[in-house]
Amino acid sequence: MIPDLSLGLTSRARLVGRPRWGRRIQHNCELFETNATVVVKVLKAAQRRKWDASDDELFYAEPRFVQHLDEAFRQRLTRLYRERLPAEAVVLDLMSSWVSHLPEEVAYASVIGHGLNDKELAANPRLQRHWVQNLNQDQLLPLDDASVDATLIVAGWQYLQYPEAVAAELLRITRPGGQLIVAFSNRMFYTKAPQIWADGGDRDHLAYVTEVLIAQGWPTPTVIAETTRAAGWTGLVGAKGDPFFAVIATKPA
Ligand SMILES: C[S@@+](CC[C@H](N)C(=O)[O-])C[C@H]1O[C@@H](n2cnc3c(N)ncnc32)[C@H](O)[C@@H]1O
Repeated sequence: MIPDLSLGLTSRARLVGRPRWGRRIQHNCELFETNATVVVKVLKAAQRRKWDASDDELFYAEPRFVQHLDEAFRQRLTRLYRERLPAEAVVLDLMSSWVSHLPEEVAYASVIGHGLNDKELAANPRLQRHWVQNLNQDQLLPLDDASVDATLIVAGWQYLQYPEAVAAELLRITRPGGQLIVAFSNRMFYTKAPQIWADGGDRDHLAYVTEVLIAQGWPTPTVIAETTRAAGWTGLVGAKGDPFFAVIATKPA
């Protein structure tokens, strides 16, 4: 949680990002300080609320060995990773499960996993190590400054109540030139998504992730928004798969 340590610093900020559909983001900024980083607040308290306010650890107490996204989405995601992640990379799969969607043929320098269910993470064959941490309780990541080349968040950002603090931490742990890839589709555990996500559409989600990243000092991200073709014969006759969205930010070298 972002501690309520308002420094009384309020400034107007015109953010440089311009989402593809042309709406310029402009908002009042309040600055907060956590132990490690200065965080620029983007969300109002009401936007952080979710229908199910119980501890997220209860929701994830039992492992779910299921795929949260369809094959078409997963294939698109793996292709993106193949294109963007060099083999020598130290990769952090934040908000992970028993699968990481990384290309099987690439052996990365290391893949570190994080999530909320230890059994799922222990079953993930790509992870060299992992830890469990509720990011809605504590956003400080137990990783050194500039120690990670690429952080991946798949179908996870939509559950963050304090994404500003997580984004600031990710900037801290990313090496210069390193990347953050936030990927998602149009589905969610509705009761566990904060209002900002639950009430928004796909374009809102892309603009929101972009806004939070820019507010914490990430350069203007690249946005991908694509339809997918369903895997198998249904795709051949025109059936669509899960839509694919990604926000990709690169820390300046
Ligand atoms: C829909 S699953 C996606 C898992 C995985 N990234 C994938 O592609 O299958 C959402 C994940 O977000 C993570 N998550 C949700 N709420 C969280 C919280 N409060 N703190 C940390 N992680 C959380 C959990 O690891 C959970 O498995």
